[in-house]
Amino acid sequence: YHVDWDASAAEKGGYDYFMLKEIAEQPRAVADTLLGRVAVDGTLTLDEMRLAPEELRDINKIVIIACGTSYHAGLIAKYAIEHWCRIPCEVEVASEFRYRDPILDRQTMVIAISQSGESMDTLMAVRYAREQRARVLAICNVNGSTIPRESDGVLYTHAGPEVGVAATKTFLTQLIACYLVGLYLAQVRNLKFGDEVNAVIEQLSGMPEQVERVLSMMEPMRDLARSLSGANTVLFLGRHVGYPVAMEGALKLKELAYMHAEAFAAGELKHGSIALIEEGVPVVVVVPSREGRSVLHDKIVSNIQEIRARGARTIVIAEEGDEKVRPYADTLIEIPAVPTLLQPIVATVPMQVFASELALAKGNDVDQPRNLAKSVTVE
Ligand code: AGP
Repeated sequence: YHVDWDASAAEKGGYDYFMLKEIAEQPRAVADTLLGRVAVDGTLTLDEMRLAPEELRDINKIVIIACGTSYHAGLIAKYAIEHWCRIPCEVEVASEFRYRDPILDRQTMVIAISQSGESMDTLMAVRYAREQRARVLAICNVNGSTIPRESDGVLYTHAGPEVGVAATKTFLTQLIACYLVGLYLAQVRNLKFGDEVNAVIEQLSGMPEQVERVLSMMEPMRDLARSLSGANTVLFLGRHVGYPVAMEGALKLKELAYMHAEAFAAGELKHGSIALIEEGVPVVVVVPSREGRSVLHDKIVSNIQEIRARGARTIVIAEEGDEKVRPYADTLIEIPAVPTLLQPIVATVPMQVFASELALAKGNDVDQPRNLAKSVTVE
């Protein structure tokens, strides 16, 4: 008598692929990354950063370097850090950084974001930054990996091991880590945004629950993805923090479904890319939250109208109860309403579901996409 025991099926916790399990694990990953870092009174403890408050007060510029999905986390971090800390913040793909003679000194904080902590491009950028005497903080998921070992300080994301080549739970936890760094900097620098910063700290604690909710709302996204497996291209639009979310959606689709995908800042449409819109082209639009940014919200609603009038098939990711977009959405994908700067945490989830479902519909291996490696250790 023989019992079939598939060890890897057990590791996948009942899912066909690790990636699907990792998408489902995101509420826990987010909660674990917050754990122990936020006190009841809202004070943040990030001692592992190993950068003294005096050093942090001294910083007058932040440069974020990363690759791929981690770079998208950096782009979102810029919006949050500049808004909360009023420190100019640049974001650059690590492979470009050291070849352009960047301006760095002792008052520059370089944040290197890397899930694996082993990406060669990011590591070389870290080494370069340290040679220029900048202070380097790593945001990494793999304990004891090379990038944190070579940095001045580190803030680990606690996503747990990620097996799927496509980053999912590690991206959400990178966002959490970036928000924590921004809020911590604002706290040590005693900025006038005290109230707002405290409110955001509280809202962060609610994020695991919001991610759980958005996961439970993904059935329409799955249905839609299955119907699009014959499309040649998918375009993504967003603005403000929704723009990097759109970029992440496009990257996931290329990586997993091997489809042409491109993201645009919605405001750039009229400067050229609207020429791509023709009958039936699927366009995924990330609609900004209505909180505090209603101007942007109105602008994107008119973008959706414009592309729809030219034949686009509009796939609109918007907050629950957003009645203004409904008439222009061929498919409306609802996400929970959360504060603007935190919206990427919930808005990215439909992107992950969309890409993985399309890849499955095409029969692709979503854990091991062709030509890709989980960590890129060559330059
Ligand atoms: C993400 O889905 C990709 N697999 C890839 O872009 C990745 O984010 C990039 O290679 C950076 O890796 P790192 O975070 O380990 O440095």
